[in-house]
Amino acid sequence: MPSMRRKCGLNHLRGALVLLLASTKALAQTTTSSATASTAASTTSIYISYSTGTATSETTPTSAPFPPVGSIPRDYSPSGLENIWSLVGTVTAPPFTTTPVPTASVILPSPPPPLYPTWYAPEPSAIFPNYKLPKGFKFGVATAAYQVEGAVKNEGKGPSVWDWASRQPDAIVDNSTADITDLHYFLYKEDAARMAALGVNAHSFSISWARIYPFGAADSPVNQAGLSHYSDVIDYHWSLGIEPVVTLFHWDTPLALVAYYGGFTSSQIVDDFVNYAKTVFQAYNGRVNTWYTFNEPRVYCSELGGYPFNTSFAPGINASTAPYQCYYNLLNAHAGAVKAFRAMGISGEIAFKNDDFVGQPWRANSTEDVEAVERHAAFQIGVFSNPVYTTGDWPEIVKETIPESYLPRFTEQQMQDLLGSADFFAIDSYRSMLIAAPPNGIASCMSNMSDPLWPACNSIEFYDSNAGWALGPSADPQEDSWLEATPQTLRYSLQQLHERWPTNKMYISEFGFAEPYEAERKDMFRITEDSTRTNYYMTYLGEALQSIYEDGIPLMGTFSWSIVDNAEWSSGFSTRFGIQYVNYTTLERTYKRSALALSEFFMAHLQ
Ligand code: NOJ
Repeated sequence: MPSMRRKCGLNHLRGALVLLLASTKALAQTTTSSATASTAASTTSIYISYSTGTATSETTPTSAPFPPVGSIPRDYSPSGLENIWSLVGTVTAPPFTTTPVPTASVILPSPPPPLYPTWYAPEPSAIFPNYKLPKGFKFGVATAAYQVEGAVKNEGKGPSVWDWASRQPDAIVDNSTADITDLHYFLYKEDAARMAALGVNAHSFSISWARIYPFGAADSPVNQAGLSHYSDVIDYHWSLGIEPVVTLFHWDTPLALVAYYGGFTSSQIVDDFVNYAKTVFQAYNGRVNTWYTFNEPRVYCSELGGYPFNTSFAPGINASTAPYQCYYNLLNAHAGAVKAFRAMGISGEIAFKNDDFVGQPWRANSTEDVEAVERHAAFQIGVFSNPVYTTGDWPEIVKETIPESYLPRFTEQQMQDLLGSADFFAIDSYRSMLIAAPPNGIASCMSNMSDPLWPACNSIEFYDSNAGWALGPSADPQEDSWLEATPQTLRYSLQQLHERWPTNKMYISEFGFAEPYEAERKDMFRITEDSTRTNYYMTYLGEALQSIYEDGIPLMGTFSWSIVDNAEWSSGFSTRFGIQYVNYTTLERTYKRSALALSEFFMAHLQ
């Protein structure tokens, strides 16, 4: 693990906090902090300095072991909630607890000079200038509740697994928590205004289950403050011409459900999730067109087998079985939610967000590598998408490899509910790589559950098998174990997905890049010059245009991850994915080159 970089964490959130606000009047009405105004160069808005007094996100990770699952009683009173919060420990309060209303429009900075001479790389508007995006195409950006909201204990929210996980020793590289992060929970109006200034027309965000149901459970009380909050968020986005795209679950399981029965490793989660989904559908029906049940289920379920989640297993569950129990329960929860969506006559379209890629063989003449690609496709995407889009069941390759004692088999009824339970196909398409068979061969790996590559029995290669050239520029070292910029693979990748799991509509529900060493840059002119990320976006979008026009891919939107730097799970704040820089001392947002390039690209290509 790279050394801990504390500079960009929240550890310095002491003293002055600066917040982009519209007016000192708004400040007086909306905060209790003392303030002084100063002007900022990049917008016409006024920045207000806050004296935060005691605010700090310095954490002392708790080391108390997770109590045996089932030992905490279901007490849905305020003291019962405190009892669940006590598993998390002390939480840092945000520096203010109301939402400032921007009253001045955001002005974009003047465009930067071209990144390269235009004989080498066209400017964003000149990328395949005759290819216009289909009408209704979504110029989207994406966020997730845990990663951007902060205010983790405000307005009745219960704790989520990540509030707890971030405090476990050595779980987060820089020892940070997301107690405050971007404070998007209170700054969503400012964030929406800054999206609108770019011309963004869709924001894909997630709802925190524990804000709606602090205890998570179907028989527990609803938190009206949470429901009202997202209602305001949805309406405010529409008021600026930004379509809200809503994900019900982006990995932040209510911690109470883990304490009661082990969360997604128990089939009890199905009814609780469906109940939560129904509450949200009912509340926002007609105001949301595009819904997702789950974000990247494979990644979430895989996490459960590792630290720190492996310290909270229910009886009968262990690191080997937890991910597969989760696959099964999560898919049944998805199917149940979609069944309810349709039975309730909720308007709009619904699906879940896949991650990863099909891939291509590493060695040109290796039949085992060709087989490995099939295994990769089955284990990374088919495992969730075959049941939903093509067969109603796990891929055969998966069933041949993983015994029923690990991966439960579906009943006929479950298969019927699963098949067809999505209206479109969404892929978080960050990269596509080369796939190799295990060194000891696929057969030997398949028959040995202790093989490090079991059960998928393939490996991802980041360089060609001949001269050893990388597939593309590496991301920040914190993320380079999985991320290279690989635009040249996008068309093939989308074709493969469309052929294998056909639908009439596809979204690239997330894509984005961690600019190398960005968290170590100090000067703003170095931070905003995110050239590798800009190249990533522009080359991917050029390929996306060709996918639509030359390959007939029904792509109807792309969502850049992310509109702001944010809490990158176990990497904390040591990695930055934002098209806007966030100063975690002041909470001020600043556009990077990539934001302006995306804006220019879409303004020239949207119709
Ligand atoms: C996809 C996940 O959905 C998101 O939460 C994460 O931050 C990005 N990948 C970048 O790793």
